[in-house]
Amino acid sequence: MEIRSATFMTSNTDVMQCPPPDRREYAFIGRSNVGKSSLINMLTNNSKLAKTSSTPGKTQLINHFLINNEWYLVDLPGYGYVNSSKTLRNKFGKLISDYILRRENMVCLFVLVDSRHPPRKIDLEFMAWLGENGIPFVIVFTKADKLTAPACSTCIADYARVMLDQWESMPRTFLTSAESRLGREELLAYLDELNRTVDEF
Ligand code: GTP
Ligand code: MG
Repeated sequence: MEIRSATFMTSNTDVMQCPPPDRREYAFIGRSNVGKSSLINMLTNNSKLAKTSSTPGKTQLINHFLINNEWYLVDLPGYGYVNSSKTLRNKFGKLISDYILRRENMVCLFVLVDSRHPPRKIDLEFMAWLGENGIPFVIVFTKADKLTAPACSTCIADYARVMLDQWESMPRTFLTSAESRLGREELLAYLDELNRTVDEF
């Protein structure tokens, strides 16, 4: 798929104020600093579209970007940064959980995890919560440029081993780098596939 246009629409603190849910959308989620905003910029070929920062906690709002005048990419705040609450709902943030549970046009969630790290408890808990709530998701490994290709393969295999303690099968996975642009074609092809196959939401 070709990205012909990518336009910032809105930033919201409240899911009820997001654009009308009349188009398919795909949201990027994951720990703070994992590379959500950078990946959106890489996919859209626009380094200034989503705000990025080396300091965790940069994205604080629900940001909608209209792609090809047809569908939305959504940049969400990270979880696991400012965090003291014990309940799962508050752990990931009310904004994030409200968005995920209420946004009926959100077709698939892209859960980003850093290729370099073994599975973190908070990511595993988050994906378990998605499963409990029947939310479709895939896993996107980020920052692959920081590892050699064989090291990436080992990390992904190790990740799958841990996931399979909880899950019957692995969700779809993608290996990406916003730096080297690895995985761009695969992700865009998958988005294209989702755009074509999901007729209703
Ligand atoms: P929050 O909005 O704070 O939740 O973070 P985020 O997940 O949106 O991360 P962001 O895209 O702002 O990137 C965080 C930092 O990681 C920035 O310094 C980026 O330059 C860096 N980064 C993101 N993706 C990559 C990548 O693929 N490779 C490398 N080497 N650095 C990356
Ligand atoms: Mg961000």
